[in-house]
Amino acid sequence: MTLKLNDAYVRPFLDEAQLAVIGSEVRSAQQTLLAKNGKGNDFLGWITLPDDYDKDEFARIQAAAEKIKKNCDVFIVIGIGGSYLGARAVIEFLRSPMYNNLKKDTPDIYFSGCNISAQSLNELLSICEGRDVCINVISKSGTTTEPAVAFRLFRNLLEKKYGKDGARERIFVTTDKEKGTLKQFSDEAGYETFVVPDDVGGRFSVLTAVGLLPIAVSGVDIEQLMEGASDAAALYTAETDPEKNACLKYALLRNSLYRQGKTTEILVNYEPYAAMFNEWWKQLYGESEGKDGKGLFPASVIFSTDLHSLGQFVQDGTRNLFETVVSVKNASSQLAVPYDEANVDGLNFLAGTDLNTINQTAMKGTVLAHIDGGAPNIMIEIEEKNAYCLGHLIYFFEFACGVSGYVLGVNPFDQPGVEAYKKNMFALLGKPGYEDRKKELEARLQ
Ligand code: PA5
Repeated sequence: MTLKLNDAYVRPFLDEAQLAVIGSEVRSAQQTLLAKNGKGNDFLGWITLPDDYDKDEFARIQAAAEKIKKNCDVFIVIGIGGSYLGARAVIEFLRSPMYNNLKKDTPDIYFSGCNISAQSLNELLSICEGRDVCINVISKSGTTTEPAVAFRLFRNLLEKKYGKDGARERIFVTTDKEKGTLKQFSDEAGYETFVVPDDVGGRFSVLTAVGLLPIAVSGVDIEQLMEGASDAAALYTAETDPEKNACLKYALLRNSLYRQGKTTEILVNYEPYAAMFNEWWKQLYGESEGKDGKGLFPASVIFSTDLHSLGQFVQDGTRNLFETVVSVKNASSQLAVPYDEANVDGLNFLAGTDLNTINQTAMKGTVLAHIDGGAPNIMIEIEEKNAYCLGHLIYFFEFACGVSGYVLGVNPFDQPGVEAYKKNMFALLGKPGYEDRKKELEARLQ
């Protein structure tokens, strides 16, 4: 089985009568999603995306990835939020968080446009010096400030280095199929463009060109990624019983815990390669559920690292949290503890033991300690660290997120709260049209 959910360490915390009630809410949320008659139903393209995608564009993505691999040493991916987290998560999970330092026949990949840091942009601009560069700017709206600023800087760099014609061959744009200034600008400049489908929101877009182009450039097999997601879609959309459908079960468990006051969910991994996957998951759940004064706060940790920083809190702090532990059954890398004649460190009892065994033992010990401390643990295991299983896991979390959001009673597919800071920032920066707001905000600043 590609993915297994074990509820043994959470069930004792739950009430069977309440589970039955929420179980029926989960079933009806699944049907509402599939019937496309719930809130935000114009953003449900991701449900059928793993099968129902533009095959011609998919081939163009693969061709563009080959061109990028051939033409550059440094590939800059420009985007923020849902326009970068998925790609970065997959590349780090399947290739490595140290991807740029690996010996490889694919370009170094840097992510930009996801902050407004002069320091970070200057560093990246200097990394590009003397190296061949391609860029992929990704913005569904085409108007987001952070990527727009970075795009202007890197476009200038490419035009200076290669001239306008040369730069055109190195700039790839992923945006709306017809709307927005980025689309208009790209068509005029003659850049190759890829589409963020109308009915797929940013945080659900990793399996569109948004994620697939950078992922393909890193050398990950995007066909396998889509196949894993497609098999997951078939599984989780068909079965209606949460006891037989891990995806519905996850939505059921987390909503049941939430109603018992467990308002923080911590995604736990025992491998540093999953750190960005945790960030992707945090955006998916945080932006989908955190509205109308409701929602589980999504947090994340990498153990055993964070056992030495946050472990105390999880074990013994405010009892408003639970953990969802994601692990991979078959390890992708082995390393044994060496034998040492002197045994000064007393570690010879572990000599010859593979680090995966020690890591898994740390996980088992931690789960038991944390449930003893009152923190329930949902266990999710995928079979292998490969594109197929990761595609499955991505779809698992996306579908569970849609179901969970409906059970919670929110529209999981909008993000009105993100606009508040943007409006204030535009006003304070003096963007035309925001004059009154600027005056009002400046009067409030201390
Ligand atoms: O999930 C979302 O919709 C957001 O995180 C967006 O992806 C993010 O705000 C970037 O927006 P855009 O792609 O329009 O630049």
